[in-house]
Amino acid sequence: MVNLNMIKVSNKLVNKDVLSSVEKNRYAIIENWLEPEAIKQAKKEYEICLKELPLHAQGEKFQSIDLRKSPWRKQAIGSRNGSGEPYSQLLQSTYYCPENSQKFPVLNAIFSRIVQVRNELTDMRLDYGNNLECDEFWNACRVHHYPQGGGHMAGHRDTLFPDLLKDFKIPFLQIMVTLSSRGTDFHTGGGYILDHMNQKIYFETNINPGSLVLFDGNTIHGVDDIDSNELLDFTSMKGRMAMFVNLYKKI
Ligand SMILES: [Fe+2]
Repeated sequence: MVNLNMIKVSNKLVNKDVLSSVEKNRYAIIENWLEPEAIKQAKKEYEICLKELPLHAQGEKFQSIDLRKSPWRKQAIGSRNGSGEPYSQLLQSTYYCPENSQKFPVLNAIFSRIVQVRNELTDMRLDYGNNLECDEFWNACRVHHYPQGGGHMAGHRDTLFPDLLKDFKIPFLQIMVTLSSRGTDFHTGGGYILDHMNQKIYFETNINPGSLVLFDGNTIHGVDDIDSNELLDFTSMKGRMAMFVNLYKKI
């Protein structure tokens, strides 16, 4: 059993300086945000989901409340993902309910910390999105797994989420934690953003799994094809993985 104290979050990181960096460069990467042991345990928990949970079709509907019973593993393949402009993607996503699962304590602890950081940086209530009864939005805590053999997300800007949140006077900030390393989990492709100089900045390097990444979703970003020289395999732990906690509108 992992010691949850290993999920290191420096208080120093949760300040508004990081937002200045996002404003100036369009992104900020805080390396080694997670201890190696926490990354290892998080991936072990994810592997259980990968092996044991059924893979649902992209169009199959679920509610946030369903996640209290079990995480939901789904394909996201095609160009219509319901979040604004169409753009090509190929990945699998597993959604979790962080406050109500004993089975995945490390993943859930990390999700909870990411939510706290996002809410602190955007001046929201620290647990905003956790209360399904009274909050208008919920924290869509999920692992995005881009498999080897062509996992990708075409370059795009996030338009729907910022617009939706704006109506509720909630600031939009993209925040994620990388779980995979270039050179180990995958070799070619990977998540990127175009910075203020229009240079492509890859989020994953050989040395930085467990990075906290903040970026401006209004800037072009995406995931270049992962290891397209390999065969596509949705059951393999290979590929690119990252954790997200976007606010989704309750329906
Ligand atoms: Fe996006």
